[in-house]
Parts: sequence; structure tokens; C-alpha cells
Amino acid sequence: MCGIVGYLGGKDATDVLVHGLSKLEYRGYDSAGIAVPEDGKITIVKTKGRLKNLAEKLETEPAHGHLGIGHTRWATHGEPSDVNSHPHCSNNDRISVVHNGIIENYMEIKSWLADKSYTFLSETDTEVIPNLVDHYFEGCLLEAVINATQRLKGSYALGVISLDDPDKIIAVRKDSPLIIGLGENESFIASDVPAILNYTREVVYLDDMEFAEITGSGIRYYNANMESVEKSSTTITWNADSAEKGGYDHFTIKEIHEQPKALRDTMTSRIVAGQKVKLDDITITREMLESYSRIYIVACGTAYNAGVVGKTAIESLSKIPVEVDVASEFRYRDPIIDSRTLLIVISQSGETADTLAVLRDSKKKGARVIAITNVVGSSVAREATDVFYTWAGPEIGVASTKAYLTMLIAVYTIALHFAELLGTMTDEETDAIKKEMLLLPDKVSKVIEQKESIQKFALKIHGEKDVFFIGRGLDYAVAIEAALKLKELTYIHADAYPGGELKHGPIALIEKNTSVLASLTQRSLLDKMHSNLKEVTSRGAKVMVVTYESNKTVDSFVDTAVHIPETIDLLAPVLAVVPMQLLSYYVCSFKGLDVDKPRNLAKSVTVE
Ligand code: G6P
Repeated sequence: MCGIVGYLGGKDATDVLVHGLSKLEYRGYDSAGIAVPEDGKITIVKTKGRLKNLAEKLETEPAHGHLGIGHTRWATHGEPSDVNSHPHCSNNDRISVVHNGIIENYMEIKSWLADKSYTFLSETDTEVIPNLVDHYFEGCLLEAVINATQRLKGSYALGVISLDDPDKIIAVRKDSPLIIGLGENESFIASDVPAILNYTREVVYLDDMEFAEITGSGIRYYNANMESVEKSSTTITWNADSAEKGGYDHFTIKEIHEQPKALRDTMTSRIVAGQKVKLDDITITREMLESYSRIYIVACGTAYNAGVVGKTAIESLSKIPVEVDVASEFRYRDPIIDSRTLLIVISQSGETADTLAVLRDSKKKGARVIAITNVVGSSVAREATDVFYTWAGPEIGVASTKAYLTMLIAVYTIALHFAELLGTMTDEETDAIKKEMLLLPDKVSKVIEQKESIQKFALKIHGEKDVFFIGRGLDYAVAIEAALKLKELTYIHADAYPGGELKHGPIALIEKNTSVLASLTQRSLLDKMHSNLKEVTSRGAKVMVVTYESNKTVDSFVDTAVHIPETIDLLAPVLAVVPMQLLSYYVCSFKGLDVDKPRNLAKSVTVE
């Protein structure tokens, strides 16, 4: 997830672009840059780090003009660095591009262009675009961009400028947001409304594969056949603050709604039906895998909860025994680590002190380390031997939601990869899982549609002091994450138990109106969970259950049943946790608490 802006008008473009980027930093903040044509050349000023670094650089390397494009980055391909920052230029420095999204087939295009003598400076997927546009350029920038986009697979919002068809910006989007701002004798492009609200409230929402040609005499819209398209504008009535949250009240609920996209992005180019898993940054071979005597998954908080799912995934698909542990325990329990150890660390931020310490100690003792992280170039990413980047985009809400779901995709993908390397499954078996994984984004959207019934249950329990979560197998993994979410967001004491453990103590606490929440997705354990639910409902508990659409048995004896689409049991946590996230969010809102910044918590815990 990145932010792009563009400007054409009477003001100083640099000022407008930098202001716009400051409103889009929530979309990414690891580097920023602008491109402004000036005296027959495109001046590009870009730098690693927050936007203030760019602003400082612009003081010594000023760029002035009335047209320009800008970008604030959240790295996916290539670490945050000056050279990987946007805007990117064609080899002849005559075309410049800003891009938000992921080009899935950039490797293929890169080698096609390399055969035509194009060279590349950065590790980004984006750099193929200005060169592709240059390849097709015959005097009309719009036509060249249309032709170039025919070759691109993946998602993109683009702003493109050229010295040879000057004084215009071409904008296009596919599966990444882009709006056009209409001012008086000035025009804007932006990934989101806040970037332009200082200047105008009149916007045009581009649809997928619509192109805008922005010139000093107005804006024309086209489809991919270069036929003219009529677009109407909308007047924005929100204020700037709520607009930054895309119209949502809080980042947390926005991020819950972004989960389908985060899942799609994380699977992009890695999970393709009918093809082997592709993991560019993991170079483990079959021989290496066979040499490992054990795999540890180590992490903290929500990342640990994803690791619990990872243990089951790797064990059941690739048949290698896995231990999972919290980093602050693992590092002091003198675990057996040597060159036959494979360590997988999971960390959204890539900076959690305990997780990083485990990585460092284990490497010293000879272990190979795979990092699963959301932050390109973070400490764990730099220090691990192999990296799996989740492409969730920046997560602003302190309680993790979309990052957790993408961590689950990461552990499934690694488990499949190991199974393929070791030959523990047939191609048909792995393919069946991949096909189901690719359906998850749409299924998560369906789960989110049920927010009303979840909200009603949240209203019933928002005054509680204690809530119990139960589940068996992978549903227990859902229960621990659900309990953590409720604690973090609502300050209600929440405990998670395996269903079978109820009778070994916790049932003593169940009385009339005690709240019990259960996840029921593991088909071989459904009957046992039904019995556990009967044990609590017969003592008067208020129960909410998350279960498959086909499981109507529970409807007759629980308060609220949230039915999720069918999937294979291994993947069910991705769907089952979503109602639990929504529940915590709604309870938190009913209690009037600070959703995005719960008390005493920090997004990234860089001290022990
Ligand atoms: C903190 C955050 C949690 C997070 C945990 C691990 O406690 O509040 O939301 O799960 O750190 O963070 P990491 O960045 O390593 O995933």
C-alpha cells in the first residue's frame, strides 16, 4: 500500500505534492519522492525515510514547476532505500511514474525489456512501467500508457508524465484506489481524498481501467480502447480527519475491512492454482529441509497466535514436527538449537525486542531463520536468512487485525512450499488448498457483511467483566486470538480454553449469563464442541458461536450464531477470527474507549 499524488495548475507543484503526501502517510511512510518537469528535464527528489526527510532534502535540492507527481511508499519489492523510492524514470529520463499496487508479472516484463537493452536500477516491480511506456511511446502519452497497461498483471494506480508529450498527467487505476480532484484551473490525482481536501471538494472516482488525461485545458476520460468516457463528479462532505480513515470512524475498523485486499496482495504471484508455490526470498532446498531435526516458530502477541496455526499447518502438510513458543519464554528456556534447527520468527513490525533476540541467539548457534514480517527492511527482515513479506500495508490500529490474517496466509504458504519440496502431498492435494486459499478474500468480505448480528451481540456483552472463549484444534487457535483482541480493545478479562479443558476447572465459573464465545469449524470435532456448548448453556451461559453455514444444529440452543462460508478446516481460522475482531471492535465502541490506541499498549514493543 502506497500513496500517490499529482498536480497540474497555477500553484507551486512541490508544495501541493508535499502537502498531499503528508495526508497519505498512513498509506506508507518508508520513503517519499516527487518528480517535477523543469527546463526540459524531469527533476526527481526522493529519499528513504519519513516525509520530513524529503521536505529537508527539497530545501537543498529544490524543484519548482506547475506540474508534478509524488509518492509515499510502503515497500513490498525491494527494501526502503533512495533508489527503490518512487518516482521511477525510463532509462532515457523522459518518462516518470508513481505507482501504488503490485505488478505480478514484473519479472517477465523485466526480462522482455532487458532483451531490448533496457536496464534497471532498483529492485522494484514499478520500474518496468516507465520503460514499458517508453517502449510504446510514439508521441501520445495516453496511447503509450494504455498499451503498457495491457501488458501489466496485478494492481495499480498510476500517475505518468513525459517530457515529450508535456504539460499533462495520465492517470489510470486497476484494483488500487485513485481519484481525480477538480479545482479552479487546476487538477489533482490522489490515492485518497485527504490529499486534495485543502484545495477542492469536487472529485471524480476513476473506475478500473479508466484513464484520465489531465491537461491545462481540462480533463478527458477514456476506456482501454481509447474511447471517450463520461464521468460525473461528487462533492466531498466529510472532514479531513474522517477522510483519512476512508470514511470509517477508526483505523481498526478500516483495517478489518481491508482484510480481503490484504489477503489478495499477500497471495499475489505466490499462490497460483495449478502452479508450485513461488517464494522468491526463501531459498531453502529439499536437502536442507530433510536435514532439520526440528522447526521452532517463535513470536509475541498476535504473531504468536498466528504461529499456533502455523504449527498445525506445517505439521499436517509437510509432516515435520514443529514447536511454537512465545519469544520471551523461548529465549530463557535454553532450547536445543544447532545447525539442524529451522527457526521461523513472525513479527508484524519486524522490530519486537524479544523476537529479534531469539533470531540473533539462534543464528549464532547455527540455526537458519525464516522471518515472516509486514515491514520490508525491518530488523528481523534484514537479519533473517529468508524472508516472507506479508503485504498487508501499514497497520495503524494497535490491535492487529489485517496483519494477523496475512500472517496466516504466510504460514499456509510456507507449509505448502515445504510439502512441495518434500513431496508429502500430491499436486491435486496442494492444488485443492491453493484454490480454496484464493477464495478466502471474497469469503472474508461475506463474513464482514454479517456485522449487524455481531454488533447486537456486542451490545449484550459490553457490560461484562469476564468472557470465555472456547475451541478445539484450530478453533482453539482462533479462541486465543479472539480473547487477546477482546482484552486489548475492551479491557474485559477474557480467557481462552480448549473445549475439552472446560470440565477441568473453568466450568466452575460458568453461571447464569456468563458470556461464552466459541468457534466451531473443525468438522471432526463438531460433535464434541456441541457437547461443550450444551455444558455451558445448561448452566445459563450467553453464547455466541461462529460456525459454517451448513452447521444449523447450534442455532436452536445458542444466543447468536454467526455463519461463515464453508472452507477446508485448515483455512477456517482466516474466516472464523473475523467475527471475533468485529465483536471486540463493537464492544470497544459501545464502551467509548480509544479503539486505535488502547491504554498501556504499544504497536511495536522494542524493549524487553
Ligand atoms: C505488541 C502489539 C501486538 C503485537 C505484538 C507483537 O504487543 O501490541 O499487537 O501482536 O506486539 O508485535 P509484532 O510486531 O512482533 O508482530
